[in-house]
Amino acid sequence: MKALVLAGGKGTRLKPLTTTMPKQLLPVANKPILFYVLEQIKEAGIKVIGIIVSPETNPFIKEAVENGSRCGVRITYILQPEPLGLAHAVKIAQDFLGGSPFLMFLGDNLIQGGVKPFVEEFNRYHPEALILLKEVPDPRLFGVAEVDPSGKVIRLVEKPEEPKSNLALVGAYLFTSEVHHAITQIKPSRRGELEITDAIQKLLDMGKNVRSYILTGWWLDTGKKDDLLEANRVVLDEYLKRDIQGEVDSQSQVVGRVEIRQGAKVEQSLIRGPASIAEKCQIKKSFVGPFTSIGAGSMIENSAIEHSVFLENCYIFNIERLADSIVGRDTRVVKQEQDFKAVRLFVSNDAKIELP
Ligand code: G1P
Repeated sequence: MKALVLAGGKGTRLKPLTTTMPKQLLPVANKPILFYVLEQIKEAGIKVIGIIVSPETNPFIKEAVENGSRCGVRITYILQPEPLGLAHAVKIAQDFLGGSPFLMFLGDNLIQGGVKPFVEEFNRYHPEALILLKEVPDPRLFGVAEVDPSGKVIRLVEKPEEPKSNLALVGAYLFTSEVHHAITQIKPSRRGELEITDAIQKLLDMGKNVRSYILTGWWLDTGKKDDLLEANRVVLDEYLKRDIQGEVDSQSQVVGRVEIRQGAKVEQSLIRGPASIAEKCQIKKSFVGPFTSIGAGSMIENSAIEHSVFLENCYIFNIERLADSIVGRDTRVVKQEQDFKAVRLFVSNDAKIELP
């Protein structure tokens, strides 16, 4: 079996962070989301992986993942020149996929427990397609499946205005090569894309066996700000282990599951886990609260921060309480003591600033 990972797109809903990096490389607990996806694929026993990239994401993804040997997998890159849909991505990957069955995995989706059970189910029953479904509060934002009481899939609709169920299509799918025939028979949707949802519906129309698998654990689609914070919270909560590699002085306290990577220094501070502090960070006279990830080379001084994600080389100084935030690379957030009180900004396009 092969895998096809989608790492194209423009990341519009995560701007401005995605102006300078693909959403699939945004960190969750100080590791790019895409790396979790690749690890989960490998854990399911699949080592031959094609990654679909767009002209925008191509250089960044290649630099981060290279040929995959570091993760113990073999990567082939496939360029999708325009965002013409998930089924279009499968179409252009046909040479790579050949006649092999494959797992298609969206590079910004995180699935609790990985995809191994899902791949095993596919190998046990040999359907033409196996889809992963999850109950969600607002199914209008997703592909939606109508399923009969025995679990048989009846109909699939992409982002319906009036959903017939609350079962959303999760961004992991298993197919045999039969899906290529289905894709040749579908037309672009209203949003101008060849939808994988329509291709699976076509398999149903062709009388093929489409099975569903209901996910009971969490599923995080990290396409938006709050989803990224939530993914960071859930992953720190679930997977982080206490591991102190950096230096902590005698006047500091590190409580609970906290990761302090090599070269990081903590002085006169309180760190309360779960929290991840990456390489070469400096934390001085500060409080770092639960569900916080601080990217490599950042400096936090005289501040209190919690439930936030900081990318590399941030500088936070004199901030009484910073919470529920995502702060991009090389950003300075500084409060200066001065008579003339003013907020001074030097921010790029699409920034969002909330002041009390
Ligand atoms: C895509 C699929 C949709 C699926 C979703 C999962 O949506 O078209 O059916 O439910 O991924 O993340 P998109 O991210 O393209 O809006």
